[in-house]
Amino acid sequence: MSEANAQQSPPSFAGYPRGWFVVQFSDELAPGQVKPLRYFGKELVVFRTDAGHARVLDAFCPHMGAHLAHPGRVEGEGIVCPFHAWKFDGEGTCVSVPYATKIPAKARIDAWPTVEKNGMVYVWHDADGRGPDWEVPDVEGFGTDAWTGWNHSVLEIKTHPREIVENIVDTAHFLPVHGTAAENFRNEFEGHVAVQHNEGIAYPLGGGEDRYKLTATYFGPAYMVTHMRGVLESMLINAHTPIGPNLLHLRFAVALKKDGGREPSAKFLARYVDNLRAGYLQDVAIWEHKVFRPRPVLCDGDGKIPALRKWYGKFFEPRESPEAP
Ligand code: FES
Ligand SMILES: [Fe+2]
Repeated sequence: MSEANAQQSPPSFAGYPRGWFVVQFSDELAPGQVKPLRYFGKELVVFRTDAGHARVLDAFCPHMGAHLAHPGRVEGEGIVCPFHAWKFDGEGTCVSVPYATKIPAKARIDAWPTVEKNGMVYVWHDADGRGPDWEVPDVEGFGTDAWTGWNHSVLEIKTHPREIVENIVDTAHFLPVHGTAAENFRNEFEGHVAVQHNEGIAYPLGGGEDRYKLTATYFGPAYMVTHMRGVLESMLINAHTPIGPNLLHLRFAVALKKDGGREPSAKFLARYVDNLRAGYLQDVAIWEHKVFRPRPVLCDGDGKIPALRKWYGKFFEPRESPEAP
């Protein structure tokens, strides 16, 4: 389809796309800890078993509807409902009813495919109920002595996720919104992956100018990893997870390459991260007040917005083939 045609039949972006979504950083969930989550318009529960496995289930007990996280209790590899103490394992199967001779066959809760790697807990969302068709890749270098851990935070933003994703192709906003001059900019789309290569000059809030070179990669519709070289070498995570139709969590994390193997000071790291976070808040200020144009009036200097929408729209549609993203 040409870019012009893609514009004539814009994707609807209704519902929630298929893909991996970050729901926790690993250090936010200790063994035995239980937390309520609200994502994809649903109530969920995340817990870490005594052996250390992160699990995500629908929140409401099939027995009489109690919320498994209010209050939550882990026992071994399972979670115990606070109301009548039915116990469910990480796959959502009821493994114990303390006062019954027989566990009802329908005593199970939907479990979400969950993986933990790169210091994050990811769940797979698929409106068709099918399993993952790609894996979360390793973040190269993370967890080695050469890099700091993640300095992470979460923002709650009133917007539709498509606004965040469009940033990856939107060349024309860099200078007016972020004060960065992108001199060399291109995008690639391949299967479930979208990449931005971006080289230019940044004008940090504290003054001066820094040359930068970055590669930002979306693995699926909601999880982006950026490798950036400027004065320092850093990695960024931008991961959004929809709470409801126009509300989402944006998880933002930064890891720095250690200079000569030395940890940067906490003060330095905080200042560096604040500077980057300020850049995202500049976008947020726009996103929270704009409308979405299904057929935007574009000019020749705009980035590949129709191609991005076509790529992103596929995650909302049924798979074209078993291998399709
Ligand atoms: S509501 Fe969960 S055990 Fe009864
Ligand atoms: Fe931006």
